[in-house]
Amino acid sequence: MAHDTPKILIQLDPDKQASVFDRVVAVDAGVDHLFSYRGVVPGDVQALVHGSIFTRGFDQLKNTAIFIGGSDMAAGEALLEAVKASFFGPFRVSVMLDPNGSNTTAAAAVLRVLEGFNGTVQGHDSAVLAATGPVGRRVAMLLAHLGARVRVGSRQLCKSVSLAESLGESTDKLFLPFETSSDEVTAEGLDGAEIVVAAGAAGVTLLTGNVLKKLHKLKVTIDLNAVSPAGIEGVKPQDKKTEKDGYLAWGALGVGSLKMKIHKAGIQRLFISNDLIIDALESFEIGRELA
Ligand SMILES: NC(=O)c1ccc[n+]([C@@H]2O[C@H](COP(=O)([O-])OP(=O)(O)OC[C@H]3O[C@@H](n4cnc5c(N)ncnc54)[C@H](OP(=O)(O)O)[C@@H]3O)[C@@H](O)[C@H]2O)c1
Repeated sequence: MAHDTPKILIQLDPDKQASVFDRVVAVDAGVDHLFSYRGVVPGDVQALVHGSIFTRGFDQLKNTAIFIGGSDMAAGEALLEAVKASFFGPFRVSVMLDPNGSNTTAAAAVLRVLEGFNGTVQGHDSAVLAATGPVGRRVAMLLAHLGARVRVGSRQLCKSVSLAESLGESTDKLFLPFETSSDEVTAEGLDGAEIVVAAGAAGVTLLTGNVLKKLHKLKVTIDLNAVSPAGIEGVKPQDKKTEKDGYLAWGALGVGSLKMKIHKAGIQRLFISNDLIIDALESFEIGRELA
């Protein structure tokens, strides 16, 4: 009987230092060997991929996989394209993309929204604050994928308009842009929203108590910012399905534990076959199985 080769995870990181966070999760996910490459640019990728696909027999290629991390989603996406372009035919290995935890965080946030809505958001009104960031963009895409009506917010209307267009083109769904430059316009943009996900930069309040009290249909809020002050006034990082004034709230830590489970399970999933690409939707489906 052929014995299984050790599980090798190849970490491609565009940053100056390979992420310690990503390395710890890889070890905790049970990989046997972690090969970490830092400062990786698309031009480096083909040689690295060829090293991974020409060394083991087809039946053992599933025991080699690639994780693309780091802190920059756009740089990670460029590496993923270069990785895919370096595969040919059956010569390929499975790949997970999760720079800055964007995919796994968005997946966990949307799963928490679903929990607050008894499993379906079809036809419900949602809004993503700071949807222009890597996490917010993916939250918006996943909510639309589940059939919610989605508004995407930015401090600058022109940014939310171009984001809505770009998301519309990539998903074939409708996204409504709104502006968050003041309480007044934020309240207008959020009028009637049942779901609000705040995906703003750390330590920035996007939704004040003054605006919150005008949102009479609000049922679920998610604040992904863990750094004081809160992204949504009154939501604490440790909130987890906490009852507030008429709505349920999750804070960054309340979402983070599920995010960590999805990240770890995603890495484990890579070694099931040699042809998986784990991006935002796949991370969400992994989370759905875990939740
Ligand atoms: N809980 C977890 O496990 C977990 C994991 C990863 C990330 N996170 C958190 O998730 C959030 C989103 O992450 P990200 O990487 O997508 O965020 P990001 O790129 O740093 O920022 C997202 C958006 O926030 C807005 N923004 C930036 N600086 C601002 C400022 N000074 N004032 C007001 N708005 C500002 C910008 O939108 P506009 O310019 O369009 O307004 C930006 O596109 C962060 O708070 C991050 O710490 C949580």
